[in-house]
Amino acid sequence: MSENKAVGIIGIGTYVPDKIVTNKDLESIVETSDEWIVDRTGIRERRIAAADIATSDLASQAAQRALDDAGVTAEEIDLIIVASATPDMFFPSTACLVQANIKATNAAAFDLAAGCSGFVYAMVTGSQFIKTGLYKKVLVIGAETLSKILDWTDRNTCVLFGDGAGAAVLAETAPGYGILASQLGADGAGGDLLKLPAGGSRNPATDETVSQRMHFIHMSGNEVFKFAIKIMGEAATKTLEAAGLSTDDIDCLIPHQANIRIIQSAAKRLKLPMDKVIVNVDKYGNTSAASIPIALEEAVHSGKIKQGDHVVLVGFGAGLTWASAVMKWGKEANTNC
Ligand code: ACO
Repeated sequence: MSENKAVGIIGIGTYVPDKIVTNKDLESIVETSDEWIVDRTGIRERRIAAADIATSDLASQAAQRALDDAGVTAEEIDLIIVASATPDMFFPSTACLVQANIKATNAAAFDLAAGCSGFVYAMVTGSQFIKTGLYKKVLVIGAETLSKILDWTDRNTCVLFGDGAGAAVLAETAPGYGILASQLGADGAGGDLLKLPAGGSRNPATDETVSQRMHFIHMSGNEVFKFAIKIMGEAATKTLEAAGLSTDDIDCLIPHQANIRIIQSAAKRLKLPMDKVIVNVDKYGNTSAASIPIALEEAVHSGKIKQGDHVVLVGFGAGLTWASAVMKWGKEANTNC
């Protein structure tokens, strides 16, 4: 086992449903306005999956694109981790469904629940298997169909979220590249602030849980907002310190896309100009575990992130959880290993 083995992303892909729902569309569903939503959140539109589409469908499309981008076959994948708050079912895991869809016949598969921090949690978890030498190639996916668990009568939540998926292939990279440092955190005492109360063993599904709308997202928006403002800057700073870097070294920040005001506040705390921050919350809303890989893919494939750039990923979410990672971008796999 080599603790110094460099592990990073060698391919990335995303998939979002075609259907666009604008703020104007939402004006006919709940009492809201385009002006309120843009002003308070920065969101202009979001993608919504069709009725017969589930999270594994979006995840499988993104996974195939990541494999193509990496030039890796599905058979080469040793492990699939799917981070999601909206799995197709409790079991089998969504990762197993993806494994079958993409025919990754040699891969182990499991799901990981860490809310919107899920993709970074999955990336850090997956990288450990490569560092220890147990696996060579790990596919990590953040995928959500949040539209399926939104209460479309609740304007406090239904305007915020969208559907989508992002996937990345992890492998050993050239020395000095890949994930330089990471930080995963949790504060379970804040679990009540953002939850889907029923359908699990605490409140199994009954007529009553359905009539009380307990199978939808319940959120204390203001409390989550305050937590997010505090943790985003803190987590990014700690991870930079662990990598021996400072905020001056950041070439690109990929924050979880929940609200433009949270993103701007994190940038301000890091004293980072907004032109180094990737923002696409306007186009997709909050896609939870999919938000960071979707933003990362956009930055990579638009040329905003270049070989050798220092990229910081930072997210927060249900749990409460937070996660950050500092990477030196270099997509080529280490061919010597
Ligand atoms: N349209 C119009 N008015 C609205 C809407 C809406 N869609 N939603 C809420 N309002 C109203 C409220 O009812 C309230 O009215 P009142 O004063 O008469 O009671 C008023 O607007 C202000 O509400 P606030 O909650 O104070 O608005 P705020 O500026 O805090 O913004 C928001 C609310 C956008 C939810 C913000 O708190 C936020 O972004 N929080 C973080 C949410 C988040 O990121 N969640 C995801 C976490 S990640 C995961 O794991 C899923």
